[in-house]
Amino acid sequence: MAQFWRPGSERPRATLVDDEEGGVLFVSAPPPSSSSGFGHSSLERQRQRLPVFKYRDAILYLVENHATTIIVGETGSGKTTQIPQYLKEAGWAEGGRVVACTQPRRLAVQSVASRVAEEMGVKIGEEVGYTIRFEDQTNPSVTVIKFLTDGVLIREMMDDPLLTKYSVIMVDEAHERSMSTDMLLGLLKKIQRRRPELRIIISSATIEAKSMSTFFKARKKDLRHAAEDSVPSHLPAVLSVEGKGYTVEIHYVEEPVPDYLQAAVGTVLSINDKEPAGDILVFLTGQDDIDAAVKLLREDTQDDRRRTSGLLVLPLYSGLSRVDQDLVFAPTPKGKRKVVISTNIAETSLTLEGVVYVVDSGFSKQRFYNPISDIESLVVTPISKASARQRAGRAGRIQPGKCFRLYTEEYFLKEMPTEGIPEMQRSNLVSCVIQLKALGIDNILGFDWLASPPPEAMVRALEVLYSLGILDEDAKLTSPIGYQVAEIPLDPMISKMILSACNFGCSEEIITIAAVLSVQSIWVSMWGAQKEFDEVKLRFAAAEGDHVTYLNVYKGFLNSGKSSQWCYKNYLNYQAMKKVVDVREQLSRLLRRLGLALKSCEKDTQILRKAIIAGFFANSCHLEEYSYNGLYKTVRSSEEVYIHPSSVLFRVNPKWVVYHSLVSTNKHYMRNVIAIDPSWLIEAAPHFYQVRTPNLAPC
Ligand code: CDP
Ligand code: MG
Repeated sequence: MAQFWRPGSERPRATLVDDEEGGVLFVSAPPPSSSSGFGHSSLERQRQRLPVFKYRDAILYLVENHATTIIVGETGSGKTTQIPQYLKEAGWAEGGRVVACTQPRRLAVQSVASRVAEEMGVKIGEEVGYTIRFEDQTNPSVTVIKFLTDGVLIREMMDDPLLTKYSVIMVDEAHERSMSTDMLLGLLKKIQRRRPELRIIISSATIEAKSMSTFFKARKKDLRHAAEDSVPSHLPAVLSVEGKGYTVEIHYVEEPVPDYLQAAVGTVLSINDKEPAGDILVFLTGQDDIDAAVKLLREDTQDDRRRTSGLLVLPLYSGLSRVDQDLVFAPTPKGKRKVVISTNIAETSLTLEGVVYVVDSGFSKQRFYNPISDIESLVVTPISKASARQRAGRAGRIQPGKCFRLYTEEYFLKEMPTEGIPEMQRSNLVSCVIQLKALGIDNILGFDWLASPPPEAMVRALEVLYSLGILDEDAKLTSPIGYQVAEIPLDPMISKMILSACNFGCSEEIITIAAVLSVQSIWVSMWGAQKEFDEVKLRFAAAEGDHVTYLNVYKGFLNSGKSSQWCYKNYLNYQAMKKVVDVREQLSRLLRRLGLALKSCEKDTQILRKAIIAGFFANSCHLEEYSYNGLYKTVRSSEEVYIHPSSVLFRVNPKWVVYHSLVSTNKHYMRNVIAIDPSWLIEAAPHFYQVRTPNLAPC
């Protein structure tokens, strides 16, 4: 059936074409730009030059007439920064309503919100605000455009299940298929049935528009009250924004590289030697290898000034301070060549102006979960072809560019996976299950998933939540523990640890520990300086392990009067420590709100460790009897693991430990480790462990 616009509604200037399979609108061939008329500032001119500007009317028309609009457009075309402003200009934020735009990543939320505030000439936190976990920069009485993580929006549903204050919710970066994005899309579909006036925009750089569109096509039986031709139409609209990317020349290595970090550094130096002006964007995997590459390139500047002259080397990853973020986005100083070394956050979430060269390691860090061993870890993983194309595209933003892939062409063609796996299908589902339960969704397997999670992972999640006392035998949230855990915006194991600490009388200490665990790392990266790092750690080290060490660090920070100098001397990240103080304050407020006691255990580290075990008993490991290299095995599944070099227990190797998380490269490494007595495991979780001479075994 052909779609027509109604008399009275604004007629789009672009051509609307029927999709042959019925009902889906495509807008093709943008009209010539008619962008004269309003605004003369340079920012206004920049706004009008963005590809999405030509589609402004078409977007507004589709949003008005369709409950769901899917917008596909290249990175940098202006989707994130412009569409919320268009909606506001068209009146969607009037009468106390708010336009929301979600992002999977916290850093992207902060960065796009400040850009939009700047374009609108307002202070961040007023008309334009943002909310990420533990940081709310909004003013409910004046904020009309709100950026937030999709996780935070899901949390808002606990207080306002239909998200009534929002007129339009734009779910951005949907192609990333983060776990929260997938959950959010399922939940929004439910809300749409109850709130037909709500508009949803799904936007992304690359997307399976068809499958999203099919997902959002309302079923007939859900439309009992809606006439076939009702407005908004229940048929999703799809709009594709044509970008203006330049061609990018792809270069491959001839032989596989043994070490992508060294290869990346070498490639940057060779670009600087041989190629004309233009900034360089390097994709590595995480803070560790990024800091290492930054260090190598900055050191090289000192050793061999000729090769690196004029390089301005900057890291980009989440958890970076505002000052460092600003440096990345600031224009490159004259005569300099900026080198930004980034995680895949720069793949589509953020646009860097001035990039002409991309160096692609071919890897990213991803979460992987094995329901059999119950092990979830961050793994350095090969990226997909779709990601590789996105990365290359970053080089063609302002002029034709070059992409240097640190893998062979044969590998790209024959071995690289075509698409990534949605996070929902490779994660531990504990947090997801508890959030859905808290929102009253009991039949989780029957939830309307965009991609169903593996049943084994679901069973494991239910099992773990049951053993933590968060779910009862009927898989309902327990009262009060289950409901309280759901209220705390942290991993359920941490939340359970906090609640137990309230009973044990050590909540003052445990919330400090929880705050430290919620920031990326409090240490300044020690890559290549293990000896110095070991010495610094000794100043704070506690024999019990990292968690108790953090209490010493926190105390030292307070005693120093929260001094940045003191942090500098002790290899501590000052920004991270300030964040710890802030998160701790919020947790203490939350506990008071839940009517729970804040009490100190005054150095009784046994009680402290028992509280930690109450949350983390499933992560217990024992040292192999004749191990000379610190080999541990997990009690749950006999998986081989080692203590991470950043831990104070590295090389100490106590017989029994409990860890907070695992990272995996060639081995599984335990991060944040504490020494325990195995009898405490049985005390904390008799339903989970049994004594089997001579060892302990899972039930
Ligand atoms: O979302 P999409 O990738 O389509 O683009 P965007 O994030 O809205 O960015 C549009 C343009 O805004 C970029 O090309 C940059 O020129 C500019 N921008 C910026 O200068 N600084 C930011 N923090 C964000 C965007
Ligand atoms: Mg964007």
